[in-house]
Amino acid sequence: MSQSEAGRATREPPIWKGRITFVMAAAGSAVGLGNIWKFPYIVGENGGGAFVLVYLACILLFGVPLLMAEIGLGRATRANAFSAFKQLSARSKASSQWKWVGGLGIVTSYLILSFYIVVAGWCLYYFVVTVSGDFTQSGQTLTQADTGARFDGVLASPVLLIVASTTFLLTVFLIVASGIKNGIEKSVNWMMPSLMVMLVLLAIYSAQNGMFMKAFDFLFSPDFSKLTLESVLIAVGHSFFTLSLASGSMVTYGAYMNDSASIGKTALAVAGIDTMVALTAGLAIFPLIFAHGLEPTSGPGLMFISLPLIFEQMPFGQIFGAAFFFLMFIAALTSGVSLMEPTVAWLEQQFSMKRLSAAFLTTVSLCAMSLLSAFSFNIWDAKWLFGMSFFDGLDFLTANVFMTIVALATALFCGYCLKPEQLQQMFGHQSRIIPVFTFSMRFVAPAFVGLMVYAAF
Ligand code: TRP
Repeated sequence: MSQSEAGRATREPPIWKGRITFVMAAAGSAVGLGNIWKFPYIVGENGGGAFVLVYLACILLFGVPLLMAEIGLGRATRANAFSAFKQLSARSKASSQWKWVGGLGIVTSYLILSFYIVVAGWCLYYFVVTVSGDFTQSGQTLTQADTGARFDGVLASPVLLIVASTTFLLTVFLIVASGIKNGIEKSVNWMMPSLMVMLVLLAIYSAQNGMFMKAFDFLFSPDFSKLTLESVLIAVGHSFFTLSLASGSMVTYGAYMNDSASIGKTALAVAGIDTMVALTAGLAIFPLIFAHGLEPTSGPGLMFISLPLIFEQMPFGQIFGAAFFFLMFIAALTSGVSLMEPTVAWLEQQFSMKRLSAAFLTTVSLCAMSLLSAFSFNIWDAKWLFGMSFFDGLDFLTANVFMTIVALATALFCGYCLKPEQLQQMFGHQSRIIPVFTFSMRFVAPAFVGLMVYAAF
């Protein structure tokens, strides 16, 4: 079979030299709204410590192995997700239809980005409002009803949502269009360290101004009576989402990783950073929630309704509030970049497009797609997919259906199709982990995904 028949990329992408850049980029992808916005509220809704334990088990049992698989698939082929599956299936003489797993991954990242930018837009809006002192200098004492009405007002305004999400999308575009080295590498190398420093400062501030011990107890003392099958499933689903798995992102970044870095150690580092950030975000938020007598179970509004209220009442609340929403913006930005890159890399390699044109095309079409999500909060109340709004339906379809299929297929592909020599090549000098890896791909990961599918029905 000729190289082009096997779908080999015409141009090989540049490679990040040090291991650190890869870790920063992959952790930048993993650490996002999922960690800072979603993780604290799902912990809150699912009873705290016991949920955290299940979540940690998911990350270790199949999150890290799947992360290794995806990085390895990308690095072994130096190609976008679609071509990566195509090349490897050709090399292992498996059906060429496996390429559609990569294809569905790319579609998934594209669709996720189309609604992710809407939520990122909220962060941007709240950052602007907090910096301008709108919350803190309102003159009268705010109540939860006020901040709730404010949030509803944001959702009700199509113009505001579009302006905010498009601004965010354009920032992602600028980074992706600048290239793998000049755009992604340069930005993650300063954004990720700044994000971590800011988060730690916020946690310290929160510990001094809030009820740290109560928050610590809430997060770390497990009460298994509060754990339901549903919360286990939420933990399974969230572990895929938070590690940016099953969507082409990690395969695509894997293609830019240097050959000498150990995939096992790198995957552990990325998952470790991601988990630390999620837990630290919890430790930054819950002490304040408890100190102000608010409920940890308030769901998605935890961040946009409860926190502004708290920042308004605290010393230096304006500064810390602004820092908090800026942090969310940066976290969302590095994830947004990794959600755009799979499509751009595919367009570039499949159609020999220039990066700038590929990024431009992706951005323009995403901008149009995101309107549907934005409008589904206000002027377009059509229901599709089991009576959900477009935004909720797209979230469900990507996170629960597409990612489940891609995760399962990726595990089966690595577990049953790849030949031992291919695995050897994927992991290089780290071949000792191959048996553990194969076991996870054949049995553990499919079992967890199967559990999800079973429970969904
Ligand atoms: N992991 C990111 C978060 O927690 C979001 C993200 C980036 C993502 N790339 C992804 C989610 C790919 C799913 C698939 O917010």
